[in-house]
Parts: sequence; structure tokens; C-alpha cells
Amino acid sequence: DAYDAGEHESFMHKEILEQPAAAERVMRGRLNDRFATGHLGGLNLDARELRAIRRVKVLGCGSAYYVGEMGATLIEELARIPASAEAASEFRYRNPIIEPDTLYVAVSQSGETIDTLLAVQEIRRKGGRVIGLVNVVGSAIAREVDGGIYLHAGPEVAVASTKALTNMFLGFAMLALQLGRVRDLSIADGRRLIAGLNALPGKIEQVLATEERLEAIAERLAAAESLFFVGRVRGFPVAREGAQKFKEISYRHAEAYQTSELKHGPLALISPAVPTVAIVPDDELVERNVAALHEIAARGGPLVVVTHDDVELQGLDAERVVVPRTERELDPILLTIPLQLLAYHAAKHLGHDIDKPRNLAKSVTVE
Ligand code: AGP
Repeated sequence: DAYDAGEHESFMHKEILEQPAAAERVMRGRLNDRFATGHLGGLNLDARELRAIRRVKVLGCGSAYYVGEMGATLIEELARIPASAEAASEFRYRNPIIEPDTLYVAVSQSGETIDTLLAVQEIRRKGGRVIGLVNVVGSAIAREVDGGIYLHAGPEVAVASTKALTNMFLGFAMLALQLGRVRDLSIADGRRLIAGLNALPGKIEQVLATEERLEAIAERLAAAESLFFVGRVRGFPVAREGAQKFKEISYRHAEAYQTSELKHGPLALISPAVPTVAIVPDDELVERNVAALHEIAARGGPLVVVTHDDVELQGLDAERVVVPRTERELDPILLTIPLQLLAYHAAKHLGHDIDKPRNLAKSVTVE
């Protein structure tokens, strides 16, 4: 088969580095600068149908669910449509209310995840409309949905998903843009987002160029038995995905929390033995975030802060990981990339089988 790890020591490493090219592929021909909108023909929805959507519900499992949370936030921000994400594995067991004016979005790299597929079938049985964000062409979910967006990430072999997740985020950004532009998103904002999206592959490249530094930080994190990943609003699904990746391949206990919720319980666990990886973009919440991190530092908790340049950490004792600035709505994807490399290098340092972590399968096809 033509797809092999080449000179890379694992598929995961190869797939992490393939992200700039994969990101370009998913956006190719799908951004319309003249009308400042997404151009997603496969949705099979015209402007009037897009305009009639009153709610968006995203369904996926594991990391696809966490990117679904990023996507729901993008849709709420750009289109001002109520949107939320839910674990597909839970959805059909609570007898969900299926509404005709809700757009259901199933997200899956493999397109074969049984929990997501069964959720799609339940929605369609009740007359709901489902689109797919799927990587594998012709897969079960791709065949079942009413329309969708292929992710064009190329084959993904490592169990820990990377490039497919990045392309899911970009798929959501284009969908949110298209939903926004049939509503109140201005041409100026549409163009701002398109320029931001077009610049992303180069910025992902810049993050990847910091790998050596991330490797050194990862080796220190790997020594801890237990870690926190924290973030707020746009940063919280980033923290969830970062923790997921870390536990999948390093087998360390990594727990994601909203930074704002630490003081309501988990702060009791902070100690010099428990590092925290904090997601702190330069957004509306930056000052509050930094204040919460001082609470961690005061209890001796080691800190790695994934942030933007010039963010004032107020003398915080922390390792700073800087990602390039983009449009605020697009921050989550650049904040996610260093977390992939932290997980990867922690697992490598610990000598684990990175592509095939214990107890896990690439795609979960039994309930
Ligand atoms: C990702 O790193 C995980 N291996 C896992 O959570 C995965 O995202 C999940 O099982 C969903 O898979 P899918 O995208 O193929 O549906």
C-alpha cells in the first residue's frame, strides 16, 4: 500500500506533520471570497433550507465529539444559531427529541463508529436531517447521511487521531461561515474569516517548527502520574482533546476541567506532583484565566501555558508555549497542535507503542 510511515518513526508523527497539507486540501475550492462564504456543495441544502435551520446538534465519539464542541461554538459565534455537541454513544439512549428544523451533524474520521452510525439511523428514522463530516469516502456513515463534507485528510493509521481532527475543525469553520452568511454575518466578517482560514496551514507549520521545545516539556510532563488540562469557552474543548490525546498514548491520568471550575473542587488535587497544561488564548477571558493560574502556582502546581505572544502572565512561574495569532474564532485549532506533540513525545519518552496504544482500536465498530 502506498501509504506508509516513510522516514517517520510512527504514523502518528507522520500524520501530525501532514496537517498543513491536509488543511489545504479540505479547504480547496470550498471558500468563496466574492460572496465571503463557504461553498459546500455536498450539503445538499440551498440558501432557503440553510436559513430555515433553527438549531444545530453535533454528534460524535471521543475526539470527534470534542472537535464537535469546538464546531458548535463556531456555529453559535458565526451564525448565532443555538448549537451543541453530544457524545453519540449516549444520544439515542435518552430518547432524544428530533426536530425538523434542527440540523444534525455526525462527525467521524472512519465513518464506521457504531455509536455514531446508530445515532444517525435513529435521527433519520424519526425524520431528522443529518449531514456528515467524514474522512473515509464511501464509509457507512457517509452512505447513511443526507449530505455532508468529506474531510480529505488522507488515510489516517495511528489510533490517536490528529490530521482528521484538524480537518473536522476546518469543516465546521466552513459550515459555520456558510450558515452565518445566509444570516447576519457581514461580508467584512466573512472575508476576515476566509483570510484567517487561508493563513492557517502556514501557521500550523509554525507550530510544528517548535517541536524540539515541546519534546523537552513533554519529557517533564511524562514523569507525572496525573495531570490537568484546563481551558474556558473556546479553550475548554481544546483542553478536553489535549487530555484525551495524552491519556490515550502516554497512559497517564489526564483530566480536563474548565479553568473557572477549579476552585469548585479540583484545586484540592493541585500539588507539585500534578502539572497543569493551561489553554490561555489572548481573548475576552485572558485576565481571569491568568488569575486562576496564580491559584495553581500558589499551591506549587507546575504550569505549562499554551498562549499567544505578549500575553501578560503577571509574573507567573510557568513554561510558556506560544502559538501564532489568528482570528479569535479559529484559535482552537492552533492551540490544539502543540498538545498533539506533547502527547506524542510523552508517549515516545515512556517507550509506548504510539500507533497502537493498549486497549484501543482505530475505529470502534461494536457497541
Ligand atoms: C482519537 O484520538 C480517538 N482514537 C477516538 O476518540 C476517536 O476519535 C473516536 O473513537 C471516534 O472515531 P471516528 O472519528 O472514527 O468516529
